[in-house]
Amino acid sequence: MNKVEEFFERVISVKWGPQKESVDIIDQTLLPGTIKRIQLQDKEGIWEAIKSLRVRGAPAIGVMAAYGMAVLAKEIKTDNYEEFLARYKEVTDYLATSRPTAVNLFWALNRMLRIVKEGGHLSVSKIQDLLFLEAEAIREEDVMISRNIGEIGFELLKNLKKEGQPVGILTHCNAGTLATAKYGTATAPMYIALEKGWAGEDMHVYCDETRPLLQGIRLTSFELGNAGIQTTVQCDNMASVLMEQGKVDIVFVGCDRVARNGDAANKIGTNTLAILARHYGIPFYICAPTSTIDMAAADKTEIPIEIRDPKEITETWYCERMAPPGVDVFNPAFDVTDHALLTGIITEKGMCHAPYDEAFEAIGL
Ligand code: MRU
Repeated sequence: MNKVEEFFERVISVKWGPQKESVDIIDQTLLPGTIKRIQLQDKEGIWEAIKSLRVRGAPAIGVMAAYGMAVLAKEIKTDNYEEFLARYKEVTDYLATSRPTAVNLFWALNRMLRIVKEGGHLSVSKIQDLLFLEAEAIREEDVMISRNIGEIGFELLKNLKKEGQPVGILTHCNAGTLATAKYGTATAPMYIALEKGWAGEDMHVYCDETRPLLQGIRLTSFELGNAGIQTTVQCDNMASVLMEQGKVDIVFVGCDRVARNGDAANKIGTNTLAILARHYGIPFYICAPTSTIDMAAADKTEIPIEIRDPKEITETWYCERMAPPGVDVFNPAFDVTDHALLTGIITEKGMCHAPYDEAFEAIGL
């Protein structure tokens, strides 16, 4: 196993706990200082881990929901199918309240619920077994999905390569291994580049710090640094300087929900970057598994945006509160980038360009 693979194993976002009686996650709120895994086996713990971003990133939230439902379903002690279905639905509805924006949460919960709904002719214990298999399939598929995204993104990197100079890549938040089952989405092209023989110095990745929860500096620079990829961090409001200086050849970001017209919700600050990239003529790509594309949402007006605790802005990370008492705080966790600002959306089924509704239909959505 090479150094990068070993790192992937160590920080795997979600796996089974002992005897599959719990879900084992790396607590991302403690990174990069502390690498600690925790096991969760009750619904409140699983809900809290998603809500407080111990596990985060759209695809990882989906895997967590699937693994969580498999573990929790096993705890429903009845042989009666109707009772099992009713209690299973209650837990599904509860986990669905943890975070509103990443559609992968609902996608995974629905996929798991379908197993139960279609299992009316089976014993409850057989359905419980099938739920473990389905959750595992969701995780394994995610590995292949991010690999495919990486292969497509790598073709773009190859075209940008200049003799003796690294390709400058800017990314925001963490759409890396921690946010998925393995390669990440926005980081997948970089990991694939390493697999194909590029050196860490062939790329220079600029990671936005990502206020207020610092996923870029805490998680992305930690991941990429461990993979030996040349990495620089900057505050979110510094990206224009890098672009102006010609250091950024391409922007790759992940996303939490893409509407049918291509409007893409991702971590707060992404839209600002897309506007900057347009100004400086830099290609801007959303990396999205098809599970993140919500064909039921026509456009940005139909994407719910999570509003989080003001303390994340006024207190978290500071030794003392940095805002006057009583000040009004605006803390949306995501923004939506207009589809017109995107160069393309990279999915595991291929590159999509505007008009996005037609491109999504062409790949079977
Ligand atoms: O609030 P977070 O940290 O869950 O937000 C994560 C992001 O915005 C990611 O870019 C997105 O989920 C894509 S992860 C492959």
